[in-house]
Amino acid sequence: MILVTGATGKCGSAAAKELLKKGEVIRVLVRDEAKAMDLLKAGGADIVVGDISQQADIDGALAGCEKALLLLPNSEQQLELEKMFIERAKAAGVKHIVKLSSMEAVADTQLPIPAIHWAAEEYLRASGLDWTMIKPSFFMQNLLGNAVTIKSMQKFFLPLGKGKTGMIDCRDIGAVICEALTGTGHESESYEITGPELLDFYQVADHFSEVLGHKIEYVDQPPEAFREQLSQFLASEWHLNAVCALFGEIAKGGLGHTTDTVRELLGRKPIPLQQFVRNHAAAFQPD
Ligand SMILES: NC(=O)c1ccc[n+]([C@@H]2O[C@H](COP(=O)([O-])OP(=O)(O)OC[C@H]3O[C@@H](n4cnc5c(N)ncnc54)[C@H](OP(=O)(O)O)[C@@H]3O)[C@@H](O)[C@H]2O)c1
Repeated sequence: MILVTGATGKCGSAAAKELLKKGEVIRVLVRDEAKAMDLLKAGGADIVVGDISQQADIDGALAGCEKALLLLPNSEQQLELEKMFIERAKAAGVKHIVKLSSMEAVADTQLPIPAIHWAAEEYLRASGLDWTMIKPSFFMQNLLGNAVTIKSMQKFFLPLGKGKTGMIDCRDIGAVICEALTGTGHESESYEITGPELLDFYQVADHFSEVLGHKIEYVDQPPEAFREQLSQFLASEWHLNAVCALFGEIAKGGLGHTTDTVRELLGRKPIPLQQFVRNHAAAFQPD
């Protein structure tokens, strides 16, 4: 049995779907059973309703599992919660944890979110469990957050200057997680994964224009305006500062490389941005 956390989110749902497609027996720990039923019951996942911050819920979800995906959303408590999950997994007899981390998570990072991921990676590496780190670049699915202005104004606003990313589709991340959980030889490996192309956001806009059939413009947003806009969605000051710091780093070129790891692991090319836009065209086309 494999436990999938974050199974109603972007990467966890993609991982759960891949595992079910492969015929794996999985359990998902979710807060909202209705969301999970829509996504997964048809595929036969065992659904456990619970909260990953509650030890008893984690223990219930981990019982009888040999492997687990550890995926938590960003918060000031993320490190503490990931450490608790790792401890409870050890106690439950789990053998292998696959952790969703990030490409920016390196030893000397000063950025709050990557620093949490790095510290959680270190904790997992020292735990005695088998581990695999999945370290993606910027998600293509982040652009769904810009769908409203792309639809209504044919523009999107981000404070990323000429910063480049090898952005990756979360469906590829799910497929890599599935391979790490079910394939062989993935223990003690850290996989930096990216999409196929290194693009700045002007080039991202060009790809949108090409697929949607009309001009889409990228507007380099002042960091203060981005912060103001984001503050409507993020309740915690810590989270707001952490995301702004991360975007500042991307603008400076902090995610400026691609890897061939998706192709090496999956035997196929990663999904290009054009395909992502085509698959989500309804969200981006004007009404
Ligand atoms: N965005 C990027 O470009 C990027 C790049 C690299 C790495 N990352 C990393 O990706 C991770 C987030 O992955 P994602 O974007 O796939 O996540 P996501 O779409 O935000 O989904 C988060 C998932 O966690 C669940 N969850 C949240 N709090 C929970 C709780 N207390 N108990 C149980 N489940 C809970 C959510 O359930 P509900 O549906 O109930 O909310 C949801 O299934 C972060 O660690 C981030 O650092 C992001």
